[in-house]
Order: sequence, then structure tokens, then C-alpha cells
Amino acid sequence: MWLSHGCVKAAASCVGRRLSRAVAGRRKKSHAASAFMPEAAGFLGVRDHGGLQEFSISQTESFWAAVARRRLEWITPFSDVLDYDMERGKVRWFQGGQLNVSVNCLDRHAHSNPDKVALIWERDEPGSEVKVTYRELLEMTCRAGNLLRRRSVKKGDCVTIYMPPCPLAVASMLACARVGAAHNVVFAGFSAEALAERIRDARSSTVITVNESVRGGKVTPLKSTVDAAVRNCPTVRQVFVVMRTDAPVAMTPKDVAMEEEMMSEDTVCEPVTMDSEDVLFLLYTSGSTGKPKGLVHTQAGYLLYTSLTHKYVFDYNDGDVFGCVADIGWITGHSYAVYGPLANGGTSVLFESTPVYPDPGRYWEMVERLKINQFYGAPTAIRLLLKYGDEWVRKYDRSSLKTLGSVGEPINTEAWEWYHTVVGEGRCPVVDTWWQTETGGICIAPRPSEPNAEIIPGMAMRPFFGIKPTLMDAEGKPVTSDDASGALCLAKPWPGMARSIHNDHQRFIDTYFKTYPGYFFTGDGAHCSKEGYYQITGRLDDVINVSGHRIGTAEIEDVVNQCSAVAESAVIGCSHPIKGQGVYAFVVLKQDAQNDDLTSQINNTVSSKIAKYACPDHIQFVQRLPKTRSGKIMRRVLRKVVERDVGDLGDLSTLDDPAAVQEIIQGHRDLCGN
Ligand code: PRX
Repeated sequence: MWLSHGCVKAAASCVGRRLSRAVAGRRKKSHAASAFMPEAAGFLGVRDHGGLQEFSISQTESFWAAVARRRLEWITPFSDVLDYDMERGKVRWFQGGQLNVSVNCLDRHAHSNPDKVALIWERDEPGSEVKVTYRELLEMTCRAGNLLRRRSVKKGDCVTIYMPPCPLAVASMLACARVGAAHNVVFAGFSAEALAERIRDARSSTVITVNESVRGGKVTPLKSTVDAAVRNCPTVRQVFVVMRTDAPVAMTPKDVAMEEEMMSEDTVCEPVTMDSEDVLFLLYTSGSTGKPKGLVHTQAGYLLYTSLTHKYVFDYNDGDVFGCVADIGWITGHSYAVYGPLANGGTSVLFESTPVYPDPGRYWEMVERLKINQFYGAPTAIRLLLKYGDEWVRKYDRSSLKTLGSVGEPINTEAWEWYHTVVGEGRCPVVDTWWQTETGGICIAPRPSEPNAEIIPGMAMRPFFGIKPTLMDAEGKPVTSDDASGALCLAKPWPGMARSIHNDHQRFIDTYFKTYPGYFFTGDGAHCSKEGYYQITGRLDDVINVSGHRIGTAEIEDVVNQCSAVAESAVIGCSHPIKGQGVYAFVVLKQDAQNDDLTSQINNTVSSKIAKYACPDHIQFVQRLPKTRSGKIMRRVLRKVVERDVGDLGDLSTLDDPAAVQEIIQGHRDLCGN
């Protein structure tokens, strides 16, 4: 079977040897050589990087049209480059154009280079990796596409995928693209309730899952989570089950043994012709309300943007091995483990394990064994590994590394320096990449830039081609001075941006386009130095970032409030040495609440309704919350308490009961010490 056994492995291992030689031969090429974009620059008549950057802003449409013609394979050429009305949240790229994303990611490479490795599936046990060539991945995708089609999945449907990173998960995503269905990948750490909510909102009739996942030596029964979820999802008519392990699994009448049925499908699957703006996928993420939003990404623009950023931010060259360790359940996995690398005909690592399994040398042992050239990870993991000391890094050969990437949250200077000097031996540029589920791909990063241009630790630095950041002041006006901070907006549409929120376009407009009319508002704050370098200062809304996982505080509050003993709660982010941010919950109990182990009751409720990562790090039981006379919780006061910055709590004149604040300050001291 494709998942648990090595049928693809034998064929692929000889390709792996050839690939290693190709990589070794190419290592001398300097980073700077391709940071400039010769293919488009020559075509556009621009001679240097600065000129190209300016061109991409002043003549956005010509820039993207040239790149789109060269990088994507079209069935029908587009007639219109860009049509937009930011105030209505309407953005359309490459209209009139038709293509198939799976053909762009597979067929063209399988045709020119069938034995090239597309995916290296780095399974949980080190040394048990499986390599999948472009020919094999195309065949797998075609069989899966034919199965979806035979089982009545068609254009306009949305398939929910609840799987850990593995080749069949990627083939399932691409099979959806092949037959014209959208996919909705749900991170396999989410609970049954969170999964059910996303299946219902996406109105999926088909779900794809595995019997069990294996991560960090731990086996988790994903199929039983899906069973529990689909009991509350009337739209679901079939669940495809893939066997990740040999453990048998109880099958219901809705279940389909996916690999078994794929065996009898044809290895050729006619791709559907899709319009540029047809939906490619939904991806749910948290906002500042309790309800997650399904961001809608479309075909051509998203693929073009991920392909271009993958190539130029990381300086990805033909023959390189790209190691993005993010899970496919997040946007980073979508854009830089799947679509960007495959659109570029690259070799992408799918990482199933954790940074500390079986020991804290895992990443670097993997870098040595797979000869990874670009490593893309999260600050939270870097901070964790830093604590274990340099030996775990130094004992492995990292000479293959050329670029180190960071994503998902701010990277503090200590972690940046360690990543640069210890992991990268001071010779690999560290690219701190800022972007979001909404932006589809990287928007601000140190590269591309003029050859050897400086990178300042902890700064995302420069806008990517076609990106025009604007900072807004408290009056909602663009900041004009140098060296200033403000709310980070993007002033021009770019092809990778989300087009809507599934089932709720008004929420899309209200969230991203209302606050600063004519601009896309990111929800983040930023500082711009006098040289024009950007540093992200954090969220301006009630969204927090726990180990790089985004979660709305309102989402956690909703769930905490469902505990029978809880009257009300307020959840905020608190700084955490490893996770970046942790979850701090202030909880008011009901008068008659039983006092037996309320902390575990709350934690169990959060992990069963959302996911483990959303569980509070601290729970402070309080008599009352600080509220204004109109009943609004004064979160800024709670934030100050948690940050131990109670010297100046600001204007408290609208507070209903000032005594509540002193109680809370004392309670915080009792819980966390002085
Ligand atoms: O606050 C920013 C933070 O992560 C948010 C986006 O989260 P999500 O949609 O889950 O996507 C994460 C992966 C792209 C942003 O609004 N963020 C992301 N990258 C950085 C960052 N904060 C600081 N520096 C970054 N490099």
C-alpha cells in the first residue's frame, strides 16, 4: 500500500542517489546569483533587482502578467490581468484564463523528468523515509482522482482531508484539483467537534482520513475522531480510509478502503479545465470571534504566488531538497510543502514527526541524511532546541544547508542568532518570513534583495515583488514619517490573496477592508525603519499565536464558558519562553460550583472541543472581571496584569467596580509569584 509499506520506496531510492549527486554539483552557486529574477527581468527589460522591485509596484499588472505567462501552463490564456474593488473585497486575477493546478504541479514535470523525486516522506521513525517520484505522484493522484470521480465527487464539491503529512494526503489534495473539487484540509490535531464544525461549514460530502497517525512515537486513532465528527455532519456520505499503520479499524457502511479501491483505478485521469478564479481550497483559521473562518483561495493566482515566493525567497534551485517542516493542515504546509515546491518541479520533504523525536537532534540528523538545502521551520521549535544545547546540532553535517527560514510568529534575537550561527554556521541567510493564511504566500521577507544585502536579526525586512505595505496611524491615515509604527495594511492586491470567507463574504469585507477603506488590513502591527525595513510587532486584535498556531481568544472563551461550573471567562495571551505566547484564562465560577478539579475539567473541555494546543497555561479563578459600566470586559487591564505592568493601568474611569482590579492583581501574584 502507498502509505504503510515501501512499494514506492524501492523504485525511488536509486533516484535519491542520483539526486544527491546533482545537489552536490550545484552547491557552489551563490545565493545572490538568482535572487534577481532573470527570466522576468530580461523579458520586462529591467536590468537589476531594484528596478524589478519598482517595476512590480508601478506596473503591477505587466509584472504579474509576464510572470504568469512564463511560470504557469495555461489551457486558455488569460485575457484580463486584474480586476478589483478593495472596498467590496472583490479581487480577480487572470480572468479568461483556464488551467489545471494538478497538471501544473505534476504532469509537466512527470513528462520532462519522471524519475525526479517530488516528495520525500520523512516518517516518524528516522531513516524510514519514502521517496516518491513525479511519475509515481502523478499516478497516485490520477488513481485518487478517478476514485473521487467514480464516487461522484465533482466540480463545486468540497472534500475534507483529515490526515497527517503523507504522500496520499498530497495526492488527495491534487486529486481534488484534478477533478475540480475544492479541498478543506483540517489539521489532524483538531478535536472531533472542531472537525465537525469545519465539515459542516464546508458542506463536505466526502472526508478522507487515515486509520491512525504516528507522531513522536505516539499513535493516535484519527479514524475514530472522524467517526465521532461525522455523526454530527448530515452532509457526509462517504469516508475514505487510508491505512497508515497495520492496526485494523472498524469500518462503517459509509467507509471506503481508499488504497484498495485505488488499486483498480486507471493511472490516467483526465484533468478538468478550471477558470483562474474557481476555488482551489478552503482553509479554516481563527479570527477575533468564536467562529473560525474558511478562507477561500483560488487557482491561478495562488499557484503563481506560491511558486514565485518559493523560488525567490528561499533561492530554490533545480535539484535542491526543500525541507518545510510545517504540517499540511496549516497554510505553510499548503504553500511551501505542497503547492510552491511542486509547481516549481522541486523536491519537497513531508515531515511527520516532531523536533525532539527520538531526540533533539532530529531536524539536523534529517538535514544530513536527506541533504536538505533549504530548511523552513517555526521559532517555537528553534527556541525549544536552543535549550538542549549546541551538541545536538553540531554532531550532524549541515553543509547542504543554503537558506534557513522562519515563519508563524516573531523570532526573538537570541533564537535568530542561534539559528544563524549554530545551525547555519554563519553562512546561510536566515529569512524571517511574514505572511498569513489570508495572504496565501510570503509577503515580507529579507529575500529576494540586492545580492548580499543586509539582514537584520528578527526583522522580516522587505516587501516581496508586487507587495506594497502601508502603515496606518491611530486616525486611520497612512503614516508618512520614517522610522514609524502603525497598523500593517497592504495597499495593492497580489495574486495569492484570499478571495473571500466561505459562506460569509460580508465578514470578509468587514474584517479586512472596512477598517482602512481601499486597503487590506492584516490585523498585525509593524514598525518600519528609516531604511524601509519592516519588523512585525504582533497582533492588534484578539488573536493569539501559541507555538505558531493561531487561535482567537473568543474561541477559547466560548468553550471555557461551556463548562458547567463556569459563569464567565476572559482569555488573553501571555508571553511564554518556548511557545511565544501562552493562554491565560481568568475564570468566574458559578455560585454553586463544585470545587473538584476545575482546572482539569476546563482543560479537558478545551482539548475535546478545540485542540490540545489551545488549553490554558494558567487559570486564575476570580470573583469578577474588570468591566466597563456598559458591561464590556477591559482586556487591556487584564493584559497589563499578566505582563506585570500594573504601575500605570491607564484610564479606569469607566470601570464599573475598581476593586475588582486589585483582587485580580493579588490573585495573579498568588498564582504566578511576584
Ligand atoms: O501575527 C502574524 C503571525 O502569524 C499570523 C498569521 O497566522 P496564520 O494565518 O496561522 O499563518 C501563519 C503562517 C504564515 C500573522 O498575522 N506571523 C506570521 N509570520 C510571522 C508572524 N509574526 C511575526 N513574524 C513573522 N515572520
